[in-house]
Amino acid sequence: MQPDSALYRARRRRVIEEMGEGVMVIATAPEVPRNRDTHYPYRHDSYFYWLTGFNEPEAVVVLVAGKEPRHILFCRERNEEREIWDGFRYGPEAAREAFAFDEAFAFDTLDTELPKLLENQPALAYVIGREMAWDTRVMGWLNTVRGKARGGVQAPTRLVDARVWLDEMRLVKDGHELALMRRAAEISTGAHRAAMRAARPGGYEYEIEAELLSAFRRGGAEAPAYTSIVASGANACVLHYVFNNRPLADGDLLLIDAAAEFGSYAADITRTFPVNGRFSPAQKDAYELVLAAQAAAIDAVRPGNHWNSPHEAAVRVLTQGMVDLGLLAGEVDGLIESNAYTRFYMHRTGHWLGMDVHDAGEYKLHGEWRPLVAGMTLTVEPGLYIRPADDVPEAFWNIGIRIEDDVAVTESGCEVLTSPPKTVAEIEAWMTP
Ligand code: GLY
Ligand code: MN
Ligand code: MN
Repeated sequence: MQPDSALYRARRRRVIEEMGEGVMVIATAPEVPRNRDTHYPYRHDSYFYWLTGFNEPEAVVVLVAGKEPRHILFCRERNEEREIWDGFRYGPEAAREAFAFDEAFAFDTLDTELPKLLENQPALAYVIGREMAWDTRVMGWLNTVRGKARGGVQAPTRLVDARVWLDEMRLVKDGHELALMRRAAEISTGAHRAAMRAARPGGYEYEIEAELLSAFRRGGAEAPAYTSIVASGANACVLHYVFNNRPLADGDLLLIDAAAEFGSYAADITRTFPVNGRFSPAQKDAYELVLAAQAAAIDAVRPGNHWNSPHEAAVRVLTQGMVDLGLLAGEVDGLIESNAYTRFYMHRTGHWLGMDVHDAGEYKLHGEWRPLVAGMTLTVEPGLYIRPADDVPEAFWNIGIRIEDDVAVTESGCEVLTSPPKTVAEIEAWMTP
């Protein structure tokens, strides 16, 4: 996707206005060596990219607020030799032009230029504490400026976590972001459809993972948004199972938590379905309980409700269902109060979703769950995980179910972005072509 420099410049202008004064410095992610001259796949820093649309490593954005706002980029210089090996680099001048910056400098000049930009500024904002090496470097610049005190130069006296502004702004998505998220959701939906069709007793979890990865790339996604979970049978009760190496057995459920990243935005989908295409009676009962919990939670995603409303709705339905299925005994209110339900449902019902799968943004404001507002994007992902135990009916042993969709809060409710087959009837029909 071509950079839309005006959109990124408008974001930076908003940040500068919110800051009012001082300097913000945001670096992109470093390249991470895997061994010798091989690197892990490169992924830019989400804050940096949200502000710039620029995806080369070794880059820093500096925003100067106040009477004379400035948008400044540091990036790598052109280098014929390196470009033969690694590919195109903009270089400061072309990047300044293409990404709508006022000034651009070579990345190598960061340690000489940055202290100058901090002189006589009241405040410095950066992402504090994420990377020790970066913290040390920032302190070095501050000390350089302090060293000029006798010449009448003042160093910033306030250090501010840039997340204060950036997280809040990233939390509410604009139209451009929602369009990218719809596409990530669409590609991921297609991948789940393909995976359901590919499952069969005797196949392997990794064969299903291969279907997912293939569909992501064929759809134009850069990468999976997170490591794919393809968990059959008892593995579905391991929340972060990623070995994906077990044979699929007749009669097992298969839980797939996998989704793509497109245009730097993540989807996050889970579906659970029978390997042989038909739910057993116990699997169906457990599945429809999670489905009902998800429907109640999605219904609770609307302006006027707060962050925890969907979770509270899901927990109530699930706890009642645990009693009805004979997994728990007692009064629903008491079982919720005492957290007894967490034996079978031990995670929360969702998280913010965006450039990061667990996206930026506070969940509480001033000690209270924050209200939902249009443009927020989140997952709704109730589950039920039943490990074998003497006090659990045997028909439910090793059943692990999660159903996860992505939703965007709208003015009147929410838009569900993801749509692989979900009801028992839809899944069984899709798996029996
Ligand atoms: N796939 C990560 C999550 O569901 O939170
Ligand atoms: Mn999730
Ligand atoms: Mn997930």
